[in-house]
This record gives sequence, C-alpha cells and structure tokens, in this order.
Amino acid sequence: MKIAIITDIHHGPQSHTKEAGWDALAVIRDFIWHAGEQRADLVLDLGDRISDTSRDTDRQVTAEVAEVFRTFHGPRYHVLGNHDVSNLTIEDSEEILGQSMQSQVVDLGETRLILWQPGVKITVGVGFPHVVPGLPWLVDALNADERPAIIATHVPLSGHSQIGNYYFESNPQYSTYPDHAVVREAVEATGRAALWLSGHVHWNTVTNVRGVKHLTVQSVSERFTTYPNGAAAFAMLEIADGGFIIDVHGNDPFHARLPFRKSGDRPWMSPLGPFGERAAQRQTERESA
Ligand SMILES: [Fe+2]
Repeated sequence: MKIAIITDIHHGPQSHTKEAGWDALAVIRDFIWHAGEQRADLVLDLGDRISDTSRDTDRQVTAEVAEVFRTFHGPRYHVLGNHDVSNLTIEDSEEILGQSMQSQVVDLGETRLILWQPGVKITVGVGFPHVVPGLPWLVDALNADERPAIIATHVPLSGHSQIGNYYFESNPQYSTYPDHAVVREAVEATGRAALWLSGHVHWNTVTNVRGVKHLTVQSVSERFTTYPNGAAAFAMLEIADGGFIIDVHGNDPFHARLPFRKSGDRPWMSPLGPFGERAAQRQTERESA
C-alpha cells in the first residue's frame, strides 16, 4: 500500500516565506509524476492548497492546483486547510476539486483511511475552534472496523512542541485545536488508530503518543527550514509487513520506519501522576504505618 502525500502547497502570491520565482505547480507536477512512477495507490492532499487573497483569486488558484491533480490516474483525496476556507466556501472547494469535503472513510483493504474534517477556520486572536462536537463521528468510524486506521486531518492533534517553529513558537494556539487532548484520549481509547497524518505546521515530525504515530509533513512552498531555498517537499508512505516507511522528498528530506499497528495491540502503561503528589502520598502512608 503506497500513499503519495502532499500538503500546504500554498499556490498563490509571492511572500517572504517562499523562494523568489517560486512555482508551486511545478512541484505538484513532479509529485504527480513520482506518484505514478512509484505506482501509488492514491494521492492524499492534506490542505492549504492556496495562499488566500480574495474569493475570485482563490477560486482561480485552487482551479490551477486542481487541474494538475486531475492528471493523476487514480483516486485522490483532499482535506480542507485554514487557507482554503478564508474566502472560499466548502462548496467552492467541492465544486473545483470535484469531490466531497465532508468527513469520510476510504477502504484500503488491509487498512482504512479516515478523512476527518472538523472546522479549520481560524479566528484571529483566538485560534482554531473546539472540535469535540465532531468527535462522535470519528470514534464511531474507528469502532466500526477492526482494521488499523490511518486518520488524516489538516491540523495536527499530537500536541507536539512548537519550539523552533517559525510560525508557532510564539503562537502555539494556532498550531492545533484547543481540545486536542480530549480528542486524542477518545481516539486512543478505541485502540484502533495506527497513524495520524497532518500538515499545517510546515515541518516534518513523528510524535508517538501511546502507540498512535502522528506524522506531519513539510509544506511544498516553505523555506524556514531550508532557507533560502523552498522545501519542494512531498512524501511517500508505504505500508507493508506490519511496518510503515515515510519518505519525504525535496530539500527537507526525512525518513522514518516504524511498526504499523493499531495502538490497542500494544497498550502503553498509564503515565504516573505528579511526583509531588506521589511523595506526599508515601509520606502519609509512612506516618500512618
Ligand atoms: Fe494550515
């Protein structure tokens, strides 16, 4: 099973975070060629296809991205990112990309891909919305099937550190959802998730939280980790023989190989409570002995 992944394309106007003369469409063409050449089973785009400006321009640049995606001869799936909903409606993206932008489950045989689409609209000064209202759908989808699941969201929910991140070191509330811990806990309780794929934070990371491997993939257009060049990043995820390999191509290369199994197959021990409380409890036990 091979999944070709691309994220945070940010096709649109030039900015200081992009290399001069940057052409995101050229990278998507490389990505689609590579996906075909490697016989990827599907293409997965994790959102933020554009850098938003106005509704008309956003429709135009989204259409340019969609035109390149259509050259892939196989299934492709897209999720919404925050920049995809700044000026566009969900229906705009559905019309231009020719597919539903609702949460859905894709049967991949040995595994399944759960495209979870909670709200991605950022409120300036606040951050992302709470997503717990959409959690029952996700838990039901996980529980509906014994097979290990891959979850895909634009925004990561690993809770990983943003220290060193150009955008989010000083703005961590914009890097994830305010209730990410509640969502993780509910997903972990099902024991059915193996991998969680996200974009948004514009860097490559693996964060293993209680057996669920959360991966984030570098943005196509980013250059804060590859200055002065753009990252030109895209990835191939291969699942075989009880393991997975993620390979990020381009100027910010990344490679990881880990077991692929649902978290419930090897549950972690529960974390200790605060050490201070433990010491106090022991002291009380000694005094009352
Ligand atoms: Fe984003």
